[in-house]
Amino acid sequence: MVGVPVRLRDDLAALPTYVAGRTVPGAVKLASNEMPLPPLPAVLDAVDRAAQAGNRYPDIAVTTLTARLAEHHGVDPARIAVGCGSVALCGQLVQALCAPGDEVVFAWRSFEAYPIVALAGHARAVRVPLTPGHVHDLDAMADAVTERTRLVFVCNPNNPTGTAVDEDALRTFLARIPDDVLVVLDEAYREFVSDPAVPDGLALAAELDNVCVLRTFSKAHRLAGLRVGYAVAPPELAAALRGVAVPFAVSAVAQAAALAALDHLDELHADCAGAVTEVARMTSELRSLGYEVPPSQSNFVWLPLGERAAEFAEHALENKVVVRAFAGDGVRVSAGTAEEVDLFLAAAGSFPR
Ligand SMILES: Cc1ncc(COP(=O)(O)O)c(C=O)c1O
Repeated sequence: MVGVPVRLRDDLAALPTYVAGRTVPGAVKLASNEMPLPPLPAVLDAVDRAAQAGNRYPDIAVTTLTARLAEHHGVDPARIAVGCGSVALCGQLVQALCAPGDEVVFAWRSFEAYPIVALAGHARAVRVPLTPGHVHDLDAMADAVTERTRLVFVCNPNNPTGTAVDEDALRTFLARIPDDVLVVLDEAYREFVSDPAVPDGLALAAELDNVCVLRTFSKAHRLAGLRVGYAVAPPELAAALRGVAVPFAVSAVAQAAALAALDHLDELHADCAGAVTEVARMTSELRSLGYEVPPSQSNFVWLPLGERAAEFAEHALENKVVVRAFAGDGVRVSAGTAEEVDLFLAAAGSFPR
């Protein structure tokens, strides 16, 4: 075809690509930090019912779910913005806060969407290396804040290392951040935290006007495929997040599923405790095999294997387990069922070292 080529943005090639965990037929998937169990039966019923009205647009304001979340967390509904997964809200935050050339600060390695949403939103991505212990270097992150910084992501617990920062460290950091810079506490894995020293971001957000919390229904609530997450933010920011949202981005099915999941939190949380138990087992067995495994407060473990990361993932796949390799850096392995974890541990045990 000959014609005038469309003019893509010059900087598009600089955007990193999001690499999703692979699904390989016949292999166990421990690559995307999902829960291994399907949605609860009551959630599936709600999904079925919502799908019956699939010829109609969803409630654009996500009214019922917003009210329910507000009640659940004891906050004003005006402080909640629901999105098509919390990753969509990461992008909306950049859109709502950053002008071209403004800076978004985050730890590295952390959630791989942060540099993508920053750069796609015409902002600059400022990556601050983790400490040698694979934890956020909050001092260095505070040092990295400049006049141009509009937004700092703190992923707590951190994906992919599983490590968490404690309340004292976070408060010391927050005290150093200017009032007009937003700190986003991304708590996608909050339900798996067992260390009481790790703060609930919602308590900090209740105190500080420059703190916003992101939560998701993708992990503990087992709705990754249905795409729903939310922000708890100061009311002006929540309104701005709604303002830049793609209209109708949260489907009726997603809204209904999230509402139904909120009716069954005890059951869901009991299964999260099961995942935490598997993470503890993976951590101790991997350590006794000689692997370095940072302490995890999430539903996954991190193996900082450096240059051997890709090779480890290949070996796991040969043993019918899909893990997530970050080439040259490490491998992240999500907790599955006890049988799936057994399969993975056997593969880790037979990896030539
Ligand atoms: C730290 C973190 N934040 C946000 C997300 C995005 O979750 P979702 O868009 O499914 O709500 C993920 C998903 O893996 C994550 O690890």
